Amino acid sequence: MSNIVILVGSMRKNGNTSRLAQSFAEGAANNNVEIVSVADYEVNPCLGCNSCFTREGNQCFQKDDMVQIYEKLRKADIVVIASPVYFYGISSQLKAVVDRLHTPMRNMFHIKKLGLILVGAAELPNLFDPILMQYQMVLDFFKLESIGNVLVRGVKDIGDIENSSALEEAYELGASI
Ligand SMILES: Cc1cc2nc3c(=O)[nH]c(=O)nc-3n(C[C@H](O)[C@H](O)[C@H](O)COP(=O)(O)O)c2cc1C
Repeated sequence: MSNIVILVGSMRKNGNTSRLAQSFAEGAANNNVEIVSVADYEVNPCLGCNSCFTREGNQCFQKDDMVQIYEKLRKADIVVIASPVYFYGISSQLKAVVDRLHTPMRNMFHIKKLGLILVGAAELPNLFDPILMQYQMVLDFFKLESIGNVLVRGVKDIGDIENSSALEEAYELGASI
């Protein structure tokens, strides 16, 4: 049994990304799964001061809701990044969470695997390429294994995801763990 944290990067709590995250979680129900939605947390961007490198416990000096997310990630074996595409990247709210992992505190974490769930409105074949490139760079740098991904094009409005086979795909990816 693994501890899985799904970081959901949409502020629309009933949106397409959230629905996919729920399906993944249902598939992975034999594990300890927690969905962490950026909509529920106030996380400031990293300010790049690097003071976390010398501060006791490598704590960030910003005392915001990232403190709670650090505690969840500290226990995680697998992290799933779930985001809408915003201008060919992940959402800024989720990027803020990722950037706050600049702290060497992350070296105390034991995350071994990552997964990726992305949705976008366009049908472009290369829609996800910029994010997939970043994902691969992170996997390589931190020597992590990928559990796989679910990439969904052509979904824009709330509810659009219901008409695609992607919910089943997300469930199956969760069940594969
Ligand atoms: C600020 C913003 C930027 C977006 N940029 C893109 C984009 O570059 N490419 C794309 O295909 N969709 C883009 N979209 C559309 C969303 O990815 C799409 O509506 C998605 O289904 C939203 O997911 P959600 O329902 O989980 O919020 C953008 C939406 C917003 C709000």
